[in-house]
Amino acid sequence: MSTGQSLNVEGSGQSRTIRSVTTQSGYLSYAAQEERCPTYRLANAPTSVAYIPTVLLRHSQLSARYAIVMSVNVERVWFITGANRGIGLELTKQLLQSPLNVVLAACRNPGQATTLQDLVPASNGRLHILHLDVTDRQSIRDAHDAATAILGDKGIDYLINNAAIVSTHAHGPHASLLIIPSALLKNLREWDSAFTLDPDVMQQVFETNVVGPAYITQVFLPLVERSERKTVVNVSSELGRFTADYGTRSTSYSIAKAGLNMLTYKQEKERPDIIFISLCPGWLKTDMGGQEAPNDVSVGVEGVIKTIVGLTPADSGKFFNWTGQDLPW
Ligand SMILES: NC(=O)c1ccc[n+]([C@@H]2O[C@H](COP(=O)([O-])OP(=O)(O)OC[C@H]3O[C@@H](n4cnc5c(N)ncnc54)[C@H](OP(=O)(O)O)[C@@H]3O)[C@@H](O)[C@H]2O)c1
Repeated sequence: MSTGQSLNVEGSGQSRTIRSVTTQSGYLSYAAQEERCPTYRLANAPTSVAYIPTVLLRHSQLSARYAIVMSVNVERVWFITGANRGIGLELTKQLLQSPLNVVLAACRNPGQATTLQDLVPASNGRLHILHLDVTDRQSIRDAHDAATAILGDKGIDYLINNAAIVSTHAHGPHASLLIIPSALLKNLREWDSAFTLDPDVMQQVFETNVVGPAYITQVFLPLVERSERKTVVNVSSELGRFTADYGTRSTSYSIAKAGLNMLTYKQEKERPDIIFISLCPGWLKTDMGGQEAPNDVSVGVEGVIKTIVGLTPADSGKFFNWTGQDLPW
């Protein structure tokens, strides 16, 4: 692989010219000159997968410079919280499709996680299910010990803080005044506002969505440090952005995700040697997203994985969405 070399874009009859070549830990980056930033596979690349992720946009739109990141054939270890359903389960399923991924899937009730358990036999020892309740400090420390015993001298390349809850009830003096169309009743759980929120629910949301990820990252840091990719992903939401106007809805959840975003910022400031990002998976059809969400969970998770594996150290401290777009806080 060298500068000036042409790579064919799979199935398109087009090619891309390599402008520069750099090597990072476990990854080879090839910079090419493009006007758009699609995601595609390169047919004559030396490795199994090659993408041009939008997260790697460096310069202006007129003379955009993109890096093509190719995953090389080395094993990657993923640790995912809330892996028994929704996005966490789909992440686990998609990651196991590559024989290079080892997944430590954490959930609070492994005995009841039947869909997750069903994936174990076909995983050839690459799926390990661990008990972890993100609100239970002892279970976090125990999960760290269990992960260490499984991994030996290996580390965790990608720590995915995925588990979260939404605010479950609208309370307060104005709650009974809310007039909600029956079609939207199923979303009632998300509708706490600044003046109807239940403080106990808000506290629980903060404990699960912010304190849990903060403590998990502290406890698991030695395992992340020991890995090659050293990446921590805080699964956040656009609802936690100040520059996006979502009005009064989902107040406790939005405040918690804004807090999680600040955690990402603080983590990156303290440890610039590790990649920390916030990532919004998009509005997806899960128990949390509801069936009215525009995208199937498999679509969003595919984008989430591409975005994560395409990260470089320069992306640390940023907030991305599932298409790889760098979002303003
Ligand atoms: N779906 C969307 O549209 C959407 C949009 C933006 C952001 N997100 C974010 O994406 C992530 C995953 O969401 P999702 O849609 O997959 O949600 P989901 O379908 O409601 O699943 C939530 C997962 O979190 C786990 N969890 C909750 N509390 C936990 C605790 N105390 N300890 C351990 N696990 C716990 C759940 O486990 P149990 O089964 O044991 O309850 C479940 O596995 C969340 O961070 C969410 O905020 C989702």
